[in-house]
Amino acid sequence: MGISKKKVTPHNTKKVTDMNSFVLKGNICFSKNPHEIQLYDNGYLVCIEGKCRGVFTSLPQEYCHLPLKDYNNNLIIPGLTDLHLHAPQFAFRGIGSDRELLDWLNTYTFPEEGKYRNPAYADKAYDIFVSELQRSATTRSVIFATIHREATMLLMDKLEASGLVTMVGKVNMDRNAPDYLTETTEESIRETRRWLSEAAGKYQRTKPIITPRFVPSCTDELMTALGEISVEYHLPVQSHLSENLSEIAWVKELVPSAETYGEAYEKFNLFGRDVPCVMAHCVHSPEAELELLKKNGVFIAHSPDSNTNLSSGIAPVNKYIQQGLKVGLASDVAGGADVNMLRMMAEAIRASHLRWRLIDSGLPALTFANVFYLATKGGGEFFGKVGSFEPEYEFDAIIIDDSSLATPRELSLTERMERLPYLADSRHIRAKYVSGQQLF
Ligand code: GUN
Ligand code: FE
Repeated sequence: MGISKKKVTPHNTKKVTDMNSFVLKGNICFSKNPHEIQLYDNGYLVCIEGKCRGVFTSLPQEYCHLPLKDYNNNLIIPGLTDLHLHAPQFAFRGIGSDRELLDWLNTYTFPEEGKYRNPAYADKAYDIFVSELQRSATTRSVIFATIHREATMLLMDKLEASGLVTMVGKVNMDRNAPDYLTETTEESIRETRRWLSEAAGKYQRTKPIITPRFVPSCTDELMTALGEISVEYHLPVQSHLSENLSEIAWVKELVPSAETYGEAYEKFNLFGRDVPCVMAHCVHSPEAELELLKKNGVFIAHSPDSNTNLSSGIAPVNKYIQQGLKVGLASDVAGGADVNMLRMMAEAIRASHLRWRLIDSGLPALTFANVFYLATKGGGEFFGKVGSFEPEYEFDAIIIDDSSLATPRELSLTERMERLPYLADSRHIRAKYVSGQQLF
């Protein structure tokens, strides 16, 4: 059968012809679970109205009338989800890994974030950030902006235009930061409500997310109000949890009634249960905190590059997978140095090897299948049915041309996939689709 010919089947009465229905052909790889990957040499990936219909070794007759794009020997994988990153910090990526978290915030992060009060600076910085993210392997992301409403709206406008699907938070901070980056409690609440009303109905792909920076940045009064706003608007929540030992000790002082750091969010209705919630890091979470994360369905954004750069530690991610917690992968730029999520997969594997060697030989290191799952279906679940090519999943896909990664060897498809985290970046991404829409 001529596979690139459009064929109309007479009995096919409900023929789908819209722009978002088509077939891609190539070497297809995706995850159904954290332990194994599905591989199709020269397979067919069918998209119907922006949703995945399945992967096939030969194209079923009923889809033969659809436009077919043949990517030949390229690799086709689900788009990657970056479950936690700071857009304003992209400006100093790769700089300042000589400090631990709290010092790093004061020395590098807060001075940079203060600049976003100036819309002209924000405009320039966010143009650079969004175009880099758009070219990367990322199709979906959960993003911190800064405390500034105007700059946050600018970022949302640019992300919407990029075609990526994101959640973006105006950050809330009413204590323990320099004056230039601290709101009063009333101001923080008022500006958050104003931001939400400005954003309401304005975007299709860009959704607001409630964003208390972390417990040390927010008074109890502000946390109470943010918990109420998230329930009132039914908005998801993002923050940081158990990243660094000094941070954890500080939270214990600030909220003595909470048994664990996680409880210091739960007290204020900011820890899952009623609305989706994602917490970055969980490097040092005690068992009681893990139980609460599991009970409330809170997602963990594992950020290995950041955790290494800021000497935070190595999260026992394989334990979280074994315990059935919801886990995805994140760059945490600029704790992490890059938006390249393929590289974050490599960082996760490397960190887990060192953890196995130096900390706990009872917990196996992460495999390629583990981290591929985290970067696709694991984190994608925060957006719904996202990150796989199983039927009914959103059609998010990236096409990778690895032909420039030269070798005299004949590589299997498994080997070609396995080397991507170590060798590939945005230069190898030939095309990108989000919900069936081709971005490039
Ligand atoms: N905790 C509070 N703020 C931040 C931040 O900007 N980056 C990281 N990695 N952790 C934080
Ligand atoms: Fe962060």
